[in-house]
Amino acid sequence: MRKRVIAGNWKMNMLPNEAISFIEQLSNKVADAKEEIVLCVPYTDLFYSLLTAQNTNIKIGAQNMHWEENGAYTGEVSGPMLKSIGVQYVIIGHSERRQYFAETDDTVNKKVKSAFKYGLKPIVCVGETLEQREAGNTKEIITKQTQLALDGLNANEIENTIIAYEPIWAIGTGKTATSEDANNSIKEIRNKIKEIYGEEISEKVVILYGGSVKASNAKELFMTSDIDGALVGGASLNVEEFTKIIAG
Ligand code: 13P
Repeated sequence: MRKRVIAGNWKMNMLPNEAISFIEQLSNKVADAKEEIVLCVPYTDLFYSLLTAQNTNIKIGAQNMHWEENGAYTGEVSGPMLKSIGVQYVIIGHSERRQYFAETDDTVNKKVKSAFKYGLKPIVCVGETLEQREAGNTKEIITKQTQLALDGLNANEIENTIIAYEPIWAIGTGKTATSEDANNSIKEIRNKIKEIYGEEISEKVVILYGGSVKASNAKELFMTSDIDGALVGGASLNVEEFTKIIAG
């Protein structure tokens, strides 16, 4: 059985005092939750969030990292830097980074390898645009992104990669993929992993859905066969709403 993972992606939101208050409130509400709860916060919130989340069941992640250990990369943050303060997760290849910051399948793959090298768990995002979907290319796009992201990893690393299927047209738009549709795309991703790495590994990979997940649609999404949880944007900024999503 795969464990349900509910991850929040705060994107470029929340000041440290807001992060502290949010985590204090959330930790009380989810103290008994069985799900793996992760908050991926801006760099400037990481340290405060980690301190506040100590001795709670909330884990803290970053939203990006560079693949090199250190060097002349102004403005970048490396895996060892994240690891040194206690960060455990990192989102890699979010569509907003692919779209606005020239992230490619190649840089995504380098970052995933680097995340494992420095002891971080990657949450790798894949997803198609509306145009790609309407052209009937969803399966091809998402399976290729998955294959390229995982290229060169060992079996243990593949099993420990979290994949987030986030159709770009559903992000921040209020449009959610139907649970059937999202589940089918996630099955395609799992099938691709099975084709390359075998069934045992493919059955262990946690694959999340992301794109306008809210309390009102979470339950239906989680009732499907292959959706193992959610990567939540906007609704992860509201404690009540996020708590309800965790409750399913
Ligand atoms: P929304 O939940 O705001 O649509 O964002 C989804 C997302 O991009 C999570 O990474």
